[in-house]
Amino acid sequence: GDAAGLQRASALISTTPDFPAPGVLFRDVTPLLADPRVYREVLDAMAEPFCADDGAPGFDLVAGIEARGFVMAGGLAAASGTGVLPIRKAGKLPNPQVTVEYGLEYAEAAVESSGDLTGARVLLVDDVLATGGTLRAAHTVVERLGGTVVGSAVILELEELKGRTIVPACHTVFTV
Ligand code: PRP
Repeated sequence: GDAAGLQRASALISTTPDFPAPGVLFRDVTPLLADPRVYREVLDAMAEPFCADDGAPGFDLVAGIEARGFVMAGGLAAASGTGVLPIRKAGKLPNPQVTVEYGLEYAEAAVESSGDLTGARVLLVDDVLATGGTLRAAHTVVERLGGTVVGSAVILELEELKGRTIVPACHTVFTV
């Protein structure tokens, strides 16, 4: 890893009060994704616990949660020679095989996906761990499709929302 790159990364996460609802402090990793070196450093840091010393991935698929999780999943899959499973927010797929509903920090929500994941080791990724509801629901989606979740990784954990209580083993690059 490159410590200087990672230090720069945390400054590239923007913070906006009262979005998308009053009282919510919105964290956006978009500026971080646009910095080539930081993007690569953050991807490496996310994957590190799930790869062998020689870099061999301990997973076959990276499941990314819409929308920013897709950007992490694509980068991680390409770097590790694995594939992507997109986990969609509700209403985007005509015939989702699996739908899992959950309560979000500021709304009700659901995640959906399709595919036969029999025998697949799946790494779950997203940008932010807040209440943990989204990651936990995505975990259920993968299991219902027949996959085995080897772990989960995010860029940023929002500690006060206590997502770790329901996603205890989540690997995070930054915590605020
Ligand atoms: C954010 C974030 C995670 C989720 C985390 O998504 O990208 O997916 O919230 O929250 P939780 O831990 O409380 O479940 P957002 O609602 O901003 O949707 P988007 O990525 O589609 O913009």
